[in-house]
Amino acid sequence: MVEKFKKKIKNICCIGGGYVGGPTMAVIADNCPDINVTVVDKNVERIKSWNDGDLTKLPVFEPGLEEIIKRVRNKNLFFSSDVDINISKADIIFLSVNTPTKTKGIGSGQASDLTWIEACARQVADAAKGHTIVVEKSTIPVRTAETVKKILESNNKDNSFSVLSNPEFLAEGTAINDLEMPDRILIGGEDHVAIELLSDIYRKWVDETKILKTNIWSSELSKLIANAFLAQRVSSINSVSAICEVTGANVQEVSKAVGFDSRIGNKFLNPGPGFGGSCFKKDILNLIYLCNYYGLSEVAKYWEQVININNWQQDRIYKTVVDKLFGTVYKKKIIILGFSFKANTNDTRESTSISISKNLINEGAHLLIHDPKVSSKQIAKDLEKEPLTENSNSAEVNNYGTWEYITNLENAFINVDAVIVLTDWKVYRNLDWNEISNQIRPPAWVFDTRLILNKNKIISSNLNYWGLGIG
Ligand code: NAD
Ligand code: UGA
Repeated sequence: MVEKFKKKIKNICCIGGGYVGGPTMAVIADNCPDINVTVVDKNVERIKSWNDGDLTKLPVFEPGLEEIIKRVRNKNLFFSSDVDINISKADIIFLSVNTPTKTKGIGSGQASDLTWIEACARQVADAAKGHTIVVEKSTIPVRTAETVKKILESNNKDNSFSVLSNPEFLAEGTAINDLEMPDRILIGGEDHVAIELLSDIYRKWVDETKILKTNIWSSELSKLIANAFLAQRVSSINSVSAICEVTGANVQEVSKAVGFDSRIGNKFLNPGPGFGGSCFKKDILNLIYLCNYYGLSEVAKYWEQVININNWQQDRIYKTVVDKLFGTVYKKKIIILGFSFKANTNDTRESTSISISKNLINEGAHLLIHDPKVSSKQIAKDLEKEPLTENSNSAEVNNYGTWEYITNLENAFINVDAVIVLTDWKVYRNLDWNEISNQIRPPAWVFDTRLILNKNKIISSNLNYWGLGIG
């Protein structure tokens, strides 16, 4: 007979040491010194980087993360690739693995691929001992808990499980802040003892009133809906940016005026090149799939439009650049400022810099790509193209459409025809436009898709300026 609940959680295991698993477990360990937290990942290289003595080599760049890792690593936070052993020791297991969009078979291009969730559940079913609480941290389609439960209960071992949904709402770049001061903690489930044991962990630093308890399906669905609403605001303001350009309005002024209405609020109204990141697109696609599955095709079409505007925004930016550069960018030098999908992260998943850069390279441009945190290796992977280096041969140099990685912006603008700001990194705010205008090949253009540059300084340095949504 399996002993059901321990009175207190002593050991946590988190499966998946990515952008969610790593920072989330670091914050839990920091706030719960009496609990041992182990993050396991099948990616041995990733675990090696989490254990690296040089904290700049952590696999995830997140402001504030290094300090926490320094405090708790090897005290009560551990990173390991021994998945089974750590599952067997755990009282509670967080599933924090990737749930990307399916690329093949039924639901391809929309439904979530649950391969990794299923693999984890099987591993947990096999290795867990006694009674274990299994928490869905990953974002998953509604009713996945049922699948997880079925897999867990299908083994003939002497163990048992309570399944809870506890979606994560952190945003990259502000993850530590979001985890330390969350707007809410959402816990869905039926087993009240398990819900209380999980709540006990969060109560160590989160006010009771912010811990929301719902049924499991509401919890799973709320995560998709929160992302859909946020992405919808970005697509709404991006659609307005285009109206501003043709009418002579200014999108920042419109955004401010609209956001001052307390019913609307001023957050998430910044226009840009479109939303990137690993989740908005995949989660809306997942929602669309769900709607179609339940025969709600009109609802599916409504959410589809959020993605259509996002694709259109990226496309129209690249076309504007080509248009302003006299209809051709062939062999023209263009500096791309920023490759991550937003500032303060090294993550490039679904970054709009990828599609815009690919399109410009396809038009024959020579791109000089800069990012404070993204490596040349990562950019090459995203662009599916190796960069030019000092060792490139003349055939490579003369290729149609090329790119180079630049780490230093000083003297980088020599003979450049255009500068495009794609990520809102702080370092780009105070560039010396006078000096740049001495280096650049006139008549050159500066394209600001994030509205972070000083328009007047650029214009007074005799450069052409295009700001997104500025009529
Ligand atoms: P990620 O790809 O960075 O990390 C997932 C990790 O899980 C990988 O390192 C992978 O090797 C590991 N993994 C997969 N299967 C495994 C297995 N069977 N055993 C051991 N390790 C395994 O993903 P992420 O960005 O951390 O996202 C994880 C989940 O959280 C997704 O469902 C995502 O939608 C959700 N989420 C992400 C964010 C975000 O900002 N990135 C925010 C909230 C929620
Ligand atoms: C988003 C949500 O904000 C998180 O709450 C959620 O947990 C997470 O997705 C997830 O499920 O993965 P994230 O993708 O990390 O977080 O980053 P956001 O700050 O939401 O930005 C997403 C994209 O929208 C970025 O490309 C950003 O530049 C863009 N954006 C955001 C705008 O263009 N304008 C805005 O006003 C806000």
